[in-house]
Amino acid sequence: MNLVFSLVESISDTWKTMGFWIFLLLTCNFLSLIPWTCGQEAYPCPPSEDISPCSCEYDAPSFISVDCTFANTSQIISAFNGVAWFPNLTNFYVWYNDWVTELPEGVFGTVTFERIQLNGVRNLNSVHPSVILESKDRLQQLLICDCLLDHFQWDILSQLTELKFFGLCDSDVTDLPVFDSLILEGLYLPGNRISTFEAGWSTPNIKYLDMGA
Ligand SMILES: *[C@@H]1O[C@H](CO)[C@@H](O)[C@H](O)[C@H]1NC(C)=O
Ligand SMILES: *[C@@H]1O[C@H](CO)[C@@H](O)[C@H](O)[C@H]1NC(C)=O
Repeated sequence: MNLVFSLVESISDTWKTMGFWIFLLLTCNFLSLIPWTCGQEAYPCPPSEDISPCSCEYDAPSFISVDCTFANTSQIISAFNGVAWFPNLTNFYVWYNDWVTELPEGVFGTVTFERIQLNGVRNLNSVHPSVILESKDRLQQLLICDCLLDHFQWDILSQLTELKFFGLCDSDVTDLPVFDSLILEGLYLPGNRISTFEAGWSTPNIKYLDMGA
């Protein structure tokens, strides 16, 4: 603050206020005063107390990422329902978490994502297909790894018109039916209990494939 005031004092009265605001703009020290210039936890993210223990990060012009690593299922539901969100977010992720057991229908309210990453969500045993389908026009990456899922509804992949990368790993999923995805470029499936592969897939754009052991 001393620096702020000596800087302001050193310039003429006329420029005092303006100099102060320029200083703030340049340093981004006062997030709450000028949130739209300073990235984290600023508009278009909701107030952090409304979504805690999830947190939201914004980087202009359009990157909005939500981290629910420290939340349980009901805290994720309340972070997205009854809170005003910008509808089109970039990331949703939960990394290494024992409290989230399911992602039920409606968990994200009306929010959609480009990337969803659930990694090391060790007690996650169910992801309702509608949770993924809500983002079907925007979702580019979907990663679900190291969890208790024993079923994945593969046929939804053909409806995800932007999905380029799909990873399902270290889960209890056993089946891998034939599925279609004209756009999918990467498929990462190591560490599941998949024992049989059927012929007849229609995935013409696959460039990266890991079926694991
Ligand atoms: C989620 O965490 C909150 C806060 O610790 C707790 O009150 C609530 O009972 C938890 N909900 C579940 C379903 O575990
Ligand atoms: C959100 O994304 C959808 C699908 O890409 C698009 O049609 C819509 O205009 C976007 N809405 C906003 C507010 O950006």
